[in-house]
Amino acid sequence: MAQFDVIITDHISEEGVKILQNAGDINVDIRAGIKNDDLKKIIGNYDAAITRSGTTVTADLIENPGKLKLLGRAGVGLDNVDIEAASKKGIIVMNAPTGNTLAATELTMGMMLAAVRKIPAANDSVKSIKWDRKKFMGIQLHGKTLGIVGLGRIGGNVAIRAKSFGMKIVSFDPYIKQAKADALGVTLCESLEQVLKQADVITFHTPLTDETKNLITKKEIDMMKDNVVIINCARGGIVNEDDLYDALVSGKVFSAAVDVFTKEPLGENRLLTLDNLFVTPHIGANTEEGQRDVALLICQQVVNALHGKSYENA
Ligand code: NAD
Ligand code: MLT
Repeated sequence: MAQFDVIITDHISEEGVKILQNAGDINVDIRAGIKNDDLKKIIGNYDAAITRSGTTVTADLIENPGKLKLLGRAGVGLDNVDIEAASKKGIIVMNAPTGNTLAATELTMGMMLAAVRKIPAANDSVKSIKWDRKKFMGIQLHGKTLGIVGLGRIGGNVAIRAKSFGMKIVSFDPYIKQAKADALGVTLCESLEQVLKQADVITFHTPLTDETKNLITKKEIDMMKDNVVIINCARGGIVNEDDLYDALVSGKVFSAAVDVFTKEPLGENRLLTLDNLFVTPHIGANTEEGQRDVALLICQQVVNALHGKSYENA
């Protein structure tokens, strides 16, 4: 029986690892946190590499791919994988698109509530032995308009939940069918501008692409309603961080909640000095269930591909 070697370069759920180990013909090498310089020296010794967001797969990393033929991403976003470079080297890139949809959806709903009621700041205030009820005046979601940019898996699930809060939903997504928006009870707009002008809360659920990088800059923020609330649990860079900072300082934006950053880890950043910005360290996919499911999906797909069976790829 053929013997395959698979390297795992980020932390993924044990249940997924077991799928590889139980396949019977796969040697699994777990090297979570390995640096790119070290990975580059050995990556060609493996038939497949499984990564998460901690590993950036550059053209340089796979310059000498050796026997590498599969790159599996335990998650949705492939912005950290140079797909073109991989294709040129004959490497198949696959992801696990459905595994963390609900985890990211639920974080988005939490961030929305946190932002409109400033819950994290209120928590910090009480813990510093203050009882400042006036400071924490919030905005009600019921009756407000939610703008969803990107009505895919996560955007669609956010829409379903936001409707139960009594929100009206408008969306911009030039790539989905009208029937999907109709089924969700969402008004699909012809332009991003239409969403920006109507929405009280705007949430982003697109991949990071050349088209969505800096989708929101000062120009777009100026089109928004005063006191708008911005949520970004998709990718850093979709909303320009400098322009968001200025709009939070000026008060144009009431508050924002952000899970993802242009540079991760974020480190010291003036964004962190703002008391109307709420942040989390890219934890959208971090639920037991979400991590189990992405690991199960990607590991099963890698096994299938190595065994010459059908698999889905990106
Ligand atoms: P999806 O592919 O189902 O949905 C993305 C939607 O964005 C699609 O419907 C697509 O048509 C739309 N879109 C693409 N370009 C657009 C543009 N220029 N303007 C408007 N819409 C556009 O993906 P998904 O599963 O919903 O995930 C969305 C993104 O969320 C992922 O690409 C990933 O970057 C991010 N994500 C983040 C976390 C996290 O941990 N914070 C977790 C999961 C996913
Ligand atoms: C994803 O794209 O799936 C997310 O960013 C989650 C992650 O990998 O942490």
